[in-house]
Amino acid sequence: MPFRRRPALVATATGAVALAILAGPSLAVAAPGNPGSPRYSAGADGAGDPYFPLAGNGGIDVLHYDLDLDYTPPEPAPAPLEGELQGIATIDLVATQDLDRFNLDLRGLTATEVVVNGKPMSFDQVENELVITPRPKLKTGSHAQVIVTYGGTTTRPTDIEGALYGWVTTRDGAMVVSEPDGSATWFPVNDHPTDKSTYTFEITVPQGLVAVANGLPSADPTTAGGFTTWYWDAPDPMAAYLATASVGDYVVNEYVAANGTPIFDAVDPARLGAPSAALALTSDMLVFFEERYGSYPFNSYGAIVDDDSVGYALETQTRSFFSRTAGEGTVAHELAHQWMGDHVSPERWADIWLNEGWATYSTWMWNEHRDRATAQESFDEILAIPADDEFWASEVADPGPLGLFTDPVYDRGAATLHALRVEIGDAAFFELAKTWVERYGGGTASTEDFMALAEEVSGQQLDTLFKVWLSTPSKPTTW
Ligand code: TRP
Ligand code: ZN
Repeated sequence: MPFRRRPALVATATGAVALAILAGPSLAVAAPGNPGSPRYSAGADGAGDPYFPLAGNGGIDVLHYDLDLDYTPPEPAPAPLEGELQGIATIDLVATQDLDRFNLDLRGLTATEVVVNGKPMSFDQVENELVITPRPKLKTGSHAQVIVTYGGTTTRPTDIEGALYGWVTTRDGAMVVSEPDGSATWFPVNDHPTDKSTYTFEITVPQGLVAVANGLPSADPTTAGGFTTWYWDAPDPMAAYLATASVGDYVVNEYVAANGTPIFDAVDPARLGAPSAALALTSDMLVFFEERYGSYPFNSYGAIVDDDSVGYALETQTRSFFSRTAGEGTVAHELAHQWMGDHVSPERWADIWLNEGWATYSTWMWNEHRDRATAQESFDEILAIPADDEFWASEVADPGPLGLFTDPVYDRGAATLHALRVEIGDAAFFELAKTWVERYGGGTASTEDFMALAEEVSGQQLDTLFKVWLSTPSKPTTW
C-alpha cells in the first residue's frame, strides 16, 4: 500500500496561506474551508514494504511498460565481464495522489532524458531513486506517459544476501531474474508486486543471439547491420520482479502443450541434454496443476536454460528461468509458481511462504503422482527433523528480509499446507486452492487473506493451526 506523505508546508492553515500568496491564485493548494481542491505533494520513495522500504514508490500505479532495449554483451575474455545497455522505457501510469514529484527505482544506470506527456522534465538521481518533477503537476486519477532514456554498463548485481540477481551479465548475454527488488538494475520501475503492469519489449542484440522475454513474440525478429531485434508482448498483468529479457546463444523450441498453452523454450546448446528431458514433462504438468489450481492463468509458458548460473531458478512469469540444469522437481516448482506467486503475488515480502510453500507442496504432489514419495511421506520427512534443529527456529510468516529463501519458508511452508489439507480434508483444500487463485489472481494477497479464506471455505476455526505452523519459532507438536 502506498502511503501518503504530506509536506510540512501545507500542514497548517498559516503555511498554506503563506504559500498561496507567494505563488498566486493558480497554485493548487487547498485553501482552508475548501477541502476538495488538490494538495500536491511528493510520492513516497517506497511502496511501504517493511522488508524493502525503498522498493517501489508511492503515488503512482503503472499500467504498462514498453521497454526498448539495446544490449551488447562483453567482449571475449580476458575483457571484463561488462555489457552495454541502452534503454528507452515508455511508462503509462496513473497518479494515485496529487503529485508535484514522484519516483521510479533505477539502480546503476544513468537517465539522460525524462519526458512526461510529451515535454522534457527536470529529474534527479539520488542513490537508487529516479526523482521526476512533472509540470504541470499530476492530479489524482490522471494518466501520464513517462519516457525515460537511460543506459550504462551492466555488471553482475547482487541482492541483500549476496545472491546474483537483476541484469546479470554473462559472456554470451545476460541472465535476467529480479526477485525480490532487482528490476531496477535494468529499467526504471515501480518495483513492488502491489503494482502489476502489462509489458511489451523490443530487444536488440548482436546477430546470432536470442533475446527472450515474457509472453509471446509479437513479430518475427528483424535483422539489420549485424543486429537482431526481438519483439515480445506480455499482456497478463505482471509484478516487476517476474519480468525477464534474458539474452543468450539459445536454441528455441516452440510447441503447443496438451492444455492448449503455447510453449516457447530457449535452451543454451551446452544444456540440451538432461534439462530437456525434464522440460518435456511440462505439458503433463500443466494438465496436472490445472486440475488442482484451475486453468493456467497466462497466454504462454516456456523455459530459459542458461549455461551460466545465478545459483537458483526463478518463476519469471510465463517463462521460468533455470541455471544450467532443470531437474524435474524444479520444473514442477517453477510451473506451479505461475499460479502461486505470479498470478497471486505476495502483498508484502513477509508473505513469501505463500509462494514457496505452495510451489514446494506442488512438487510433493507431483512426486506422488509419479509414484515417488507421497505428500504424506514428504510431510513426515519434515516432521522427522529434531525439535532442537535450527530449522524450527524461525517464523515462516515473518522470515525477515534475509530469510526469504531459507529452507523453512519452502519446507515448513509446504508442511503447513499439508497439515491444513489433513485438517480440512481434500475437498475443502482443493476448493481453497482454486478459490484462492480465482479471488486474488491478477493481484496480491497476504497471509491474513489466506487464513481468512481457509476458514471461509472449510467452515472451521483454524487459528491454532496457523499460529503453531506459521508464527511460532518452535517445532509444532499439536495443532
Ligand atoms: N524464488 C526462487 C524459487 O524458489 C528462488 C530464489 C530467488 C532464490 N532468489 C533467490 C533462492 C536467492 C536463493 C537465493 O524458485
Ligand atoms: Zn520457488
